[in-house]
Amino acid sequence: MPSTLRIVQADITTLKVDAIVNAANSSLLGGGGVDGAIHRAAGPELLQECRLLDGCKVGEAKLTSGYRLPAKFIVHTVGPVWHGGTHGEPELLASCYRNSLRVAAEHGAHTIAFPCISTGVYGYPVELAARVAVATVSSALPQFGAIREVIFCCFSAGDFAAYQRLVDAAPA
Ligand code: AR6
Repeated sequence: MPSTLRIVQADITTLKVDAIVNAANSSLLGGGGVDGAIHRAAGPELLQECRLLDGCKVGEAKLTSGYRLPAKFIVHTVGPVWHGGTHGEPELLASCYRNSLRVAAEHGAHTIAFPCISTGVYGYPVELAARVAVATVSSALPQFGAIREVIFCCFSAGDFAAYQRLVDAAPA
């Protein structure tokens, strides 16, 4: 069955998928934005498990249980901070998407939802980040046959529109 890509506007903590991705920082000990929302919704057991993971490098990904979330797993990845785009940001962001898919697939996930990694506090322009996200996931998915659905979960209407424009502009 071919995998599908979907764009939704939602709070990622409400999605009933096998895995949601967290845009974390390298400590993996929580923060603001989507990271804060995920920790609040998952409950304090999440922080206990995160303490055992010994952090995470930019571009890499580590998995925990989803605890009180509807999602079974949380894949924690650390996006790059935007420094103008010439400091390896696109490659590091692409690694976040690829490694998150890999870790989720290794744990048997069939459905996964991504937030707009790096586009909040880390300052990555959303149009550019969306391009990396869609291109990377589209080209990596054939390697991860078990993943049937990838959701790009946009929090704001503006982010949703940016993803939509990108997908509409792509050749069929
Ligand atoms: N559901 C979906 N998306 C959300 C949610 C939510 N509940 N809340 C925010 N977003 P950010 P970053 C969107 O700043 O730029 C944290 O403190 C938000 O609108 O959460 O990768 C970490 O600990 C934006 O589109 O992540 C790190 O220190 C997107 O999530 C740092 O921020 C990412 O924004 C990581 O920064």
